[in-house]
Amino acid sequence: MYTVMPIFGTRPEAIKMAPVVAALEESQQLRTVVTVTGQHREMLDQVNDLFGITPDHDLNILQHGQTLSGIMTRTMEGLENLFSHEKPDAVLVQGDTTTSTAAAIAAFYHGIPVVHMEAGLRSGDLLSPFPEEANRKMTSQITRLHLAPTSTSRANLLAEGINSADIVVTGNTVIDALLATVDKQLPFTDHRLEELAAGGRRTLLVTTHRRENQGDAMRGVGRALARITDAEPDLMIVLPVHRNPVVREAVLPWVDGKPNVLVTEPLAYGEFTRLLSIADVVLTDSGGVQEEAPSLGKPVLVMRENTERPEAVDAGTVLVIGTDENRIIKEVVRLLHDEVHFSGMANAVNPYGDGKGAARSVAAIEELLGVGTRIAEFTGG
Ligand code: UD1
Ligand code: UDP
Repeated sequence: MYTVMPIFGTRPEAIKMAPVVAALEESQQLRTVVTVTGQHREMLDQVNDLFGITPDHDLNILQHGQTLSGIMTRTMEGLENLFSHEKPDAVLVQGDTTTSTAAAIAAFYHGIPVVHMEAGLRSGDLLSPFPEEANRKMTSQITRLHLAPTSTSRANLLAEGINSADIVVTGNTVIDALLATVDKQLPFTDHRLEELAAGGRRTLLVTTHRRENQGDAMRGVGRALARITDAEPDLMIVLPVHRNPVVREAVLPWVDGKPNVLVTEPLAYGEFTRLLSIADVVLTDSGGVQEEAPSLGKPVLVMRENTERPEAVDAGTVLVIGTDENRIIKEVVRLLHDEVHFSGMANAVNPYGDGKGAARSVAAIEELLGVGTRIAEFTGG
């Protein structure tokens, strides 16, 4: 029996890992030791609770106001003893957070093969998103098996000299998580959201948290939201706000007291996907939301200067608009009032996955460890 250790620490990693953890636990060939760093706390536990994941190990590293170096060093130190004790045959990391890269480096230093989910995303700008573009490039250098979500991400890896035999195109497992969750139409714990769902009012769903947007850009987002509420009194803006106090301080003062802005705590994943399914327009700087919303046919305005997820931009469902206050207002208003433009963007497309990403990932891991064979790759998009 070979031991595989999935390691994750933040909300998006947990969501994308959840289907893979479930598939690993079904494998007859593998023992799964789930390890969380606790880079996030409430937002991580929320996901694990929903998917019924009880970590075997929890490094519990979160510190408020944590620095990137702090996350990196606490993760690496915490894993050192654990690797000696559990002796994993492979470590599984997801995406581009500092948890992910720290765990990959720690495993590499220990001589443990690294399997990287969501490998090969590239914005082409080392400083945006920061530090994620650098994190994922560093992880690629020390990865043994690259689980690329799409053919575009595979091409990025090949262009950097990664051996084609070490790459498997799996589809993004966020689509597995989304498809397993969204149809359940789970109840909202916040009665205001239940009323919104019943009332059919036009809805703009907003999320923001990117480090490179914190400060002036994020204050501009707050001001843009305030001006949109004044110009569009029939619209409801829903803002499930990140736990990061820096984000809250930048955005919330601008929308405080506005009757058509509904601010919530981070929503449990089931509630968030239901909200996504009833929203008309999505305004975000999130990576995962850029992948989920197109699958539900929702137009997405991305508040960033670039994206490492060009597939839905090419499909016409996502528009990258930057963080300029006036541009944000202009693009939201245009989507609300220009029906041709709206229906051009409101296409349900699935360039990121087909719901079988976890099965492909586990089959590829079994092959790496010599106890199975790969299955046909994801070709959609
Ligand atoms: C991190 C990831 C980013 C990912 C994002 C997902 C890095 C460098 N950044 O963002 O790639 O897109 O998570 O949301 O790995 N906090 C809590 N409770 C929580 C979560 C956060 O209190 O459950 C607060 C803490 O005060 C913490 C702050 O939020 O210091 C920021 O958390 P952190 O993980 O450092 O956020 P980001 O780096 O912005
Ligand atoms: N999400 C959630 N509740 C919320 C906001 C987002 O469950 O209140 C989910 C969302 O569906 C997506 C993921 O969190 O799957 C994205 O996480 P985040 O934006 O924090 O990180 P990123 O994807 O940008 O790394």
